[in-house]
Amino acid sequence: MTKHGKFYGIGVGPGAADLLTVRAANILKDVDIVCVPRSSQDNESVALKVAGSYITDKTKIIEISTPMTRDKAILNAEWEKGAALIAEQLVAGQSIAFITIGDAMLFSTYTYILKKLRVLLPDVHIESVPGITSFSATAAFLNTALAERNEKLAIIPAIDDPNELRTILTHFPNAILMKVAGKFNEIVDVLDELNLKNNAVYVCKLGYPDQFMTYDLDSIRTTKRDYLSLILVKREGF
Ligand SMILES: C[S@@+](CC[C@H](N)C(=O)[O-])C[C@H]1O[C@@H](n2cnc3c(N)ncnc32)[C@H](O)[C@@H]1O
Repeated sequence: MTKHGKFYGIGVGPGAADLLTVRAANILKDVDIVCVPRSSQDNESVALKVAGSYITDKTKIIEISTPMTRDKAILNAEWEKGAALIAEQLVAGQSIAFITIGDAMLFSTYTYILKKLRVLLPDVHIESVPGITSFSATAAFLNTALAERNEKLAIIPAIDDPNELRTILTHFPNAILMKVAGKFNEIVDVLDELNLKNNAVYVCKLGYPDQFMTYDLDSIRTTKRDYLSLILVKREGF
C-alpha cells in the first residue's frame, strides 16, 4: 500500500459559492493543500474566489501557473512543472485538491495535469469531483432546456475558424459556444447568416457579482468581452 497523499480534482461550479457540491465542500475542508490554477492575467485565481469560503486558514495554497497561450510547448512545460510540484507533496503524504471552474472534466487544466501526474506517480490515488458546468448553470438561470426529446446538443470551443459553425449549427438544433470572447463578431456574423442571431443569448460571468447577459448580440460587438462568456443557441428559440 502506498502512503502517498490522495489527489482530488474538484469542479467548483460556475461562480456562485452555493453551487459547489457538498462533496467538494467536505473535501476542501479536509485536505492539506489546495492547488489553484492562475493565469498571468488574473490578480487572483478565479476558482479560489469561488471556493474560498470552504477553505480553512490551516490549508496551504499552491498556485499553478496556467498561461493564456495555445503554444503547446509552453503549456506542456507548465503542466509538467505543476505535476512535479504536486507529485512532490503527494509523496510527502499531503492530500491535495486541485480546484477548477465549472466541471473538472471539461476544458480544464486539471485533466492536463492529471495526465502528467499519472506518468510521475502511476499508483496515485485520484478522485475527481464533478462540478456544475457554466452551461448547465446558464440553462437553469434562463429556465430553459439545453435539449429536449431526441434533440442533439453541441458543445463547441469557438476559438478556431467560426466558419466551422455553419455546418455544426445546421446539424445541431441546440449549441453551446464556449470561449467566444476572441472571435465574437465573426461568430455573430455566422449566426446572423444562419438566421440564428435572434435565437441566441450571450452570458458573461454567470454567478459572479458582475454577471451580464443579453439577447441583443449586436449591442456588444464593440465592448470588451470577458473570457468567462458563452453563447447558447436554440434554433427553436427560448
Ligand atoms: C476553460 S473553459 C472552462 C469550462 C468549465 N470547466 C465548465 O465546466 O464550464 C472556460 C470557458 O467556460 C465558459 N465559462 C466558464 N465559467 C463561466 C461563467 N461563469 N459564465 C459564462 N461562461 C463561463 C466560458 O465560455 C469560458 O470561456
